[in-house]
Parts: sequence; structure tokens; C-alpha cells
Amino acid sequence: MESFQMAKDNTPLSLTQNFIVPESNRPQLSKVSTLDSIPIIDLSTPSQFLLDKITQACEEYGFFHIINHGVPQNLCKRMLTAISDLFKLPHQERETFVEYAKEINKLMGTLFGLISQSLGLEKNCLQRKLGEKPRLKAQANFYPPCPDPELTLGLSVHTDLPALTVLMQSDEVSGLQVIKDGKWIDVKPVPHSFVINLGDQLQVLSNGRYKSVHHRAVTNKMLGRISVAMFYGPNINTWIGPIEELVDEEHPAVYRRYKFSEFLDEFARQEGTRRRVKEAFQISYDHGICSSSTP
Ligand code: OGA
Ligand code: NI
Repeated sequence: MESFQMAKDNTPLSLTQNFIVPESNRPQLSKVSTLDSIPIIDLSTPSQFLLDKITQACEEYGFFHIINHGVPQNLCKRMLTAISDLFKLPHQERETFVEYAKEINKLMGTLFGLISQSLGLEKNCLQRKLGEKPRLKAQANFYPPCPDPELTLGLSVHTDLPALTVLMQSDEVSGLQVIKDGKWIDVKPVPHSFVINLGDQLQVLSNGRYKSVHHRAVTNKMLGRISVAMFYGPNINTWIGPIEELVDEEHPAVYRRYKFSEFLDEFARQEGTRRRVKEAFQISYDHGICSSSTP
């Protein structure tokens, strides 16, 4: 784990002026679908069936829950408690963090293997392309109860910039929402699961076949919510581009190759705008610019 950030302090959010987002950015909660949800994948499913499920989830949602993932339940519980305590006290439960990061790193290896295979690639392909000395970063989010969830966002709309995210959220309250077919869907917590989502680098590596999907977090009127995200991404000197096996005449390269540091520079350059970072690396062909399917 290289860094540990607190995204929010734990003073209760009273909707002072600076938290109120402009009307066009408000969550419009009544329009969010609670009927649809992201798929739940059981990692203990036999392999061929499992790969089909992963392909489908990656193509259709870019988000899924995993259950029976092998990370001890007791460790997850301790991790959430430690994070919760962390927001109360300025004290870090270091060991728990190191232990958790190791387990999640192992799980990321399994997931990269499955996602590689689901793309028809060798098991170790994605991790090899993501290079030596990958960056594993943890981020803890605390969303205090909010008197009016309609007026603000816990975390504004974004895609995750690295390659893969493993998110653990508390069971009691939902807040994460994901774009699916142009509509927001609510990611209801599934006990003992992790939420997995693909990041921008995976969208590029898969030549756009898998999507890094827009998501956001909204607040809850009564309950505070915590989540712990772990992000796996390349180091700044790694070259990223569509994997050769996924590029052919029918599927020309959607993105050009770049050094990950270039991607980060572009991300910083677009600060303050509705970022379109991947798009800056798209290749334009004679018949026009390849369009991205994320809004
Ligand atoms: C993130 C994120 C969602 C959540 O940290 O990138 O999307 O539910 N978090 O906290
Ligand atoms: Ni995110």
C-alpha cells in the first residue's frame, strides 16, 4: 500500500453553501434504478462458466460483485472497523492495513488472470502488460449522513484511472451508483462481497472492448457510509496501449500507445473540466474519430 488518503473528514455534513453542487450536477435520485443491479459473480464457479460470466459482466457493466473470493471475512470486518476507527481517531491500525493490502494484491492477481482469459488472452497477459512494480493504492472514503442527498454528491461522477479497483463497502447502506445503458443504477451492498470495476487502463489495453464505466457516490440522509477502494495501476514509466492480439483489421487500434506518465499529465491538465482523458489518446481515422461509449 503506497498511500492512504482520507477523502472526507468525519465532521457531519451540514449543507453549507460550499457542498451544494450546481443544479446540472445534482444526482436526481428519483431517476436512479433500484430494480437493475450489477451482476454477482461467484468465484467458486467452475472455470468455463465463470469466464463466460466475467466476459458478460465486463462487456455489459464494467462492474460486478464477487463472492467466495477467498479473502477472510474476519479480515474484511476488521478492515472496515479499522477504517471506521481511523476516521474517529488520528491513529492508524498499520498491521491490519498491510495484511489487507497483501490479500487484495493476491485477489487482484486472480482477477487479472480471469479477465485476461475472458478476453481470450493468456492468463498472465494483463499483469505483464501492466508492468513491473505496479502501483497498489488504497483510498478510504467516509460519507457522513447528509440532511439533503439531492443537493450534493459524496463523490462526483468519474471513472477510475488505474486498471482495476477492488472496493469493499459497509453492508448497511448503499451510495455507489453506476451508469448502465445511460441510466444510473444503485449498487446495493452484497454481504461479504467486493465490488470490482475496470479502470481506464484496462479499457485501453482491451482496445475498448471492456469499459471503464462512469460512477459516483451519493450520500444518505440517516446513515454514514464507509468504503475502502484499492486500485491497481501501472507505474509511471510503463507503456500502455491496446494489446496486439486484440487489434486486427476488424478491430483497429482505438488508442495510441502512451507512457502512463503522459496519461497522468493529461489527467492533471484536464483538472476542473469534465475530464475526457482516455479520449485524448484515441486514434482518429479518416472516417472520423472513434467514439467512446461512456458518456
Ligand atoms: C472511488 C469510488 C465509490 C464508493 O473511490 O473511486 O468510486 O462507493 N468509490 O466509495
Ligand atoms: Ni471510483
